Amino acid sequence: MTDAIMATGLVKSYGDVTALDGLDLAVPQGTVFGLLGPNGAGKTTAVRILTTLLRPDAGQATVAGLDVVRDAARLRARIGASGQYAAVDDHLTGAENLEMVGRLYHLGTRRSRERARELLTRFDLTDAADRPVRGWSGGMRRRLDLAGALVAQPPVLFLDEPTTGLDPRARAGLWDVIAELVAEGTTVLLTTQYMEEADRLADRIAVVDQGRVIARGTADELKDQIGGDRVELSVTGRADLEAATRALAPLAVEDIQVDAAALRMTVPVTGGAVALTEALGRLAAERIAVRDAGLRRPTLDDVFLTLTGQGTGKIEETVR
Ligand SMILES: Nc1ncnc2c1ncn2[C@@H]1O[C@H](COP(=O)(O)OP(=O)(O)OP(=O)(O)O)[C@@H](O)[C@H]1O
Ligand SMILES: [Mg+2]
Repeated sequence: MTDAIMATGLVKSYGDVTALDGLDLAVPQGTVFGLLGPNGAGKTTAVRILTTLLRPDAGQATVAGLDVVRDAARLRARIGASGQYAAVDDHLTGAENLEMVGRLYHLGTRRSRERARELLTRFDLTDAADRPVRGWSGGMRRRLDLAGALVAQPPVLFLDEPTTGLDPRARAGLWDVIAELVAEGTTVLLTTQYMEEADRLADRIAVVDQGRVIARGTADELKDQIGGDRVELSVTGRADLEAATRALAPLAVEDIQVDAAALRMTVPVTGGAVALTEALGRLAAERIAVRDAGLRRPTLDDVFLTLTGQGTGKIEETVR
């Protein structure tokens, strides 16, 4: 299967600021790709190049099989991008704005009207649909902007921080829409500051820093890559704590940390749930009573912070 989005060696500078420094991406058709990275990493620059709004200084990219520079005009008809219609016409109503986009994409008046209604319903905007956008809230405009990207049902969709500024309900709604589109074969590239969102939505993730991809993989692969699985447990007595430390030493990939006062210990392991099962088996074999045990996996926040060199953050509980 061909990749819906392919980029090799993209370079882009603004004056002496290097925004992209040899960015490579490959996104299989019908998948969600998450571009993560700190502020200024180059995410928006990459999206602007892939949506033909900006020319790269070097490198090459194709979207839906079309070159982003040579075939820019043809490509524009095959992609949707949120941000593209951020300049919604304030004097038009929500419905009129979407119908206008439909006509731009040559959907025809009737189909444009139908599609506008569908999307207004989808994004919970029916009550406001016939009011001028002028009086709409920021979150409502944002949803209209996203709806605009979906009017023509393009095969490839670029969403630059699609849920920034959305309330939890609107965010969940957008997640559903994305899942449906992808089930129908749409390819989605999104950037996000919300690790939880990337974890939940993206089939594959690239972590970008200073214009380059510094790590890529599924959320799980990235978590494994930084390591950091831990078995945490507490026992009922001091003697058990020492016995447990001895019993679990073979599993530990780094020093076991013991909090004697709390009768707790933390064992750095690899392999997640398998390691937890193994640990409990060893303790049972030694007849050590366990009061409480759990596995902690790193979050994508940890991945992000570790890889972009800003120290490690909090740890997530996945099994308890
Ligand atoms: N039009 C511009 N003129 C000058 N510098 C720019 C311009 N656009 C972006 N930059 C610079 O290029 C770098 C990458 O910016 P970009 O907007 O692509 O980052 P980003 O990853 O999208 O960041 P954010 O998370 O804040 O949206 C930054 O150093 C930024 O200051
Ligand atoms: Mg950006």
